[in-house]
Amino acid sequence: MTSSLSDSGNTLEHLLRTMPKAELHIHIEGSLEPELMFALAERNHIQLGYPDVDSLRAAYAFTDLQSFLDIYYAGASVLCTRQDFEDMAWAYFKRAKADGIVRAELFFDPQTHIARGIPMAVVVAGLKAACSRARQELGISSDLILCFLRHLSEEEAFATLEQALPFRDDFIGVGLDSSEKGHPPEKFARVFARCRELGLRIVAHAGEEGPPEYIESALNLLGAERIDHGVQAIQAPGLMQRLVNQQVPLTVCPLSNIKLCVFKTLADHPIARMLEAGLCVTLNSDDPAYFGGYLLENYLQTFKAHDLGMGHAYTLARNSLVASFAPATEKQRWLHDLDSLFFAYVPRQ
Ligand code: ADE
Ligand code: ZN
Repeated sequence: MTSSLSDSGNTLEHLLRTMPKAELHIHIEGSLEPELMFALAERNHIQLGYPDVDSLRAAYAFTDLQSFLDIYYAGASVLCTRQDFEDMAWAYFKRAKADGIVRAELFFDPQTHIARGIPMAVVVAGLKAACSRARQELGISSDLILCFLRHLSEEEAFATLEQALPFRDDFIGVGLDSSEKGHPPEKFARVFARCRELGLRIVAHAGEEGPPEYIESALNLLGAERIDHGVQAIQAPGLMQRLVNQQVPLTVCPLSNIKLCVFKTLADHPIARMLEAGLCVTLNSDDPAYFGGYLLENYLQTFKAHDLGMGHAYTLARNSLVASFAPATEKQRWLHDLDSLFFAYVPRQ
């Protein structure tokens, strides 16, 4: 149960790669690789502020969340047509397949696009086309989660929800993302209440850069069923106990946290302490095109930095499947597949 990447690396690496797992925290606009960004810019006659892919990548040296968001929103400006959204999401799904992902719940930021005159219908149609194709050609189950931008007003979130209602069946839930500090969850309590009435699933970014209190208010005031990031919980023992007791899933993104300077190095990341405490932790890539790795890379680097083993791999994959919003029958099938794979490596005592 304890073999780490360093002692029996091949076995553990194979398990990490092949075990069925869900990705629950991926901003699909954050999967836009520079090569595709340049191709779409050319297709749509848009001038990017960088001469080539290499100089763009060189600008991916972030100091905090805001320094990333500024570049991320600029990058999303190349997305104009239904085909652009489909191409971006399809590229992600191909990577997901290679990483052993069986279930992906994609965040998208419609306000970023609507503000540029791109209709909700275009965004949703492109993303849904990729989701259908992923199901048919790759066997990946997926759904969309619409995120409200928290640096904008609640009134604007309500207007976005109104525009999304004709597409109600095309997304399963809502989330809250963008600049965290100074934009507490309570700012959006009314719009999330309306979303709950509509039967939408609820998630929210909280405790990425912001204080542990934002995690409490995302749970208490928004009705969040999962917390995106949540790493700042480590500062608040009472909150930790609640999260453990209620098994609130936390969608942790280790490479993101390093790239955005939340923690200095992966070795400083609290992931091992969080697992040890019994939190329902999952691993995720957040914005893989910007943060240097997709889901498997997050697993590999995290396992290496913390000398995690087979038992941790099983726990993380299991947590991700249990915490997903997939239908129960699908979840049971994946959990069974995970058990079959894992117990072939590590016989039951
Ligand atoms: N939007 C895209 N990535 C994000 C992140 N890591 N935090 C908040 N909002 C985001
Ligand atoms: Zn995120």
